[in-house]
Amino acid sequence: MVSKIKFITNIIKGKIIRKRIKLNPNVLLTENRDDIRYMVDFLREVIEKGADPKKTIFYQFISDIDKNFYYQPNKTVKEFLDLYKKSAKEGIKGKIPIMGFKDPFVKTRWFFCGNSFIKYIRNTTGYQLYDDASYVIYNDNTLRYVIPKTKLSQQAAYKLAIAIYLKYKSIPCVLLEFDEENYYALNCTEFIKEKKDIYKFLINDDKLRNFCHELNAIYMKRLKIKTDGSDKICFYQSFKKLKINGARDTEKRFKIYSLDKLLTKKHDVLDIGSNPGFFSLYCSKYVNSIDGIEPNKSCVEVSNYTKKFLGITNCNFYETTIEKFKTKKKYDIVFSFAVHRYMKTSLEEYLRRIYDLLKKEGFLLLESHTIKKFYSGWFTNCISTLYSAEELSFTKTVNDLVDKGLFKIVNYGFSYDGGENFNSKRMFYLLKKI
Ligand SMILES: C[S@@+](CC[C@H](N)C(=O)[O-])C[C@H]1O[C@@H](n2cnc3c(N)ncnc32)[C@H](O)[C@@H]1O
Repeated sequence: MVSKIKFITNIIKGKIIRKRIKLNPNVLLTENRDDIRYMVDFLREVIEKGADPKKTIFYQFISDIDKNFYYQPNKTVKEFLDLYKKSAKEGIKGKIPIMGFKDPFVKTRWFFCGNSFIKYIRNTTGYQLYDDASYVIYNDNTLRYVIPKTKLSQQAAYKLAIAIYLKYKSIPCVLLEFDEENYYALNCTEFIKEKKDIYKFLINDDKLRNFCHELNAIYMKRLKIKTDGSDKICFYQSFKKLKINGARDTEKRFKIYSLDKLLTKKHDVLDIGSNPGFFSLYCSKYVNSIDGIEPNKSCVEVSNYTKKFLGITNCNFYETTIEKFKTKKKYDIVFSFAVHRYMKTSLEEYLRRIYDLLKKEGFLLLESHTIKKFYSGWFTNCISTLYSAEELSFTKTVNDLVDKGLFKIVNYGFSYDGGENFNSKRMFYLLKKI
């Protein structure tokens, strides 16, 4: 609603002008829009060679959740092909919305597993396609509002791809002029560079490809953006074996926490806030059993679907919170990674609850939330101060419980585990119940 009001206000203030022009469609095939190149290839492969749409790079791209936007791939492909058939018969209807750029460089932006990246590219054509996946972001790097999806913008990329495929010499466009300073054009090319090899791999592996598509669909079906730490569009954890990128690198974390030295086939483990379950599933081969507790339904569905796909039998996921989790079982090891902030109780009460769930001499591997973020610019100091409060209360509470004789500190360390949190530092303790 706010974004719509802002959009209308901008029009009234005269920031956005609408002018009709005709352009050669190739002028809009700018270097940041490899997604449109994929669309053209898709038409070539499906229309001319009768290829299975699911085995095209375009299909892998649209069904990918790492880019921070996801449209149902089957529906999208059907709409695209229907639009192509209609356009081939009746000509492309309507005008393509575009943006005019005067500066020598265009600011472009893409997301990769929740992290945003910016690149300035040369403004070689003076124009950019305007479609519904573009954002307006201010200089402090915060996404303030998404440009409302105008009816006109929704099919802009598809119409452009069809025009290129059908070798149109010119297409009617409507020129929108925004404040260039505050506009970031979508850059799919840089995102695609990271994913191209995986897409090619998936095209040739029917089993893994179907699994990945289904997994993303399961995750997105019910996903609600929440403030309980499960608010990601991409997966929070990676799973290399399944070609799944994630905000945090599972294998790297396993090494940083030295779990290869701690886990044995005799251990029963509890993972509190298991999210998509990839970390629990990855650890399952090293232990006797592992239980994951996760209140987010989408995450639990993803965990169970992956568990079934991998044929893992010693892992169980419970759709609940730690507060509501009832069990008589005692665990050898409890994982609590980046989760205590979401508890309704204090950190001390939470750690006492974990204490009760542990066997005598059991271990708690406890990871903090972000304690330091590395930003450049004027922003740095205030952010660091904000996060260091977590470090202080985290270390203080742990040390209080050590003083009270509940735990002993066996090891501690810091994690910088890449992905979305590549600029975040976290602390962890390995504690032993006394
Ligand atoms: C920031 S994520 C961390 C996920 C995982 N522990 C990791 O580090 O990879 C926090 C997770 O805790 C879950 N969570 C939130 N409140 C919880 C609670 N009361 N009990 C158990 N899990 C909870 C969220 O749904 C989310 O999946």
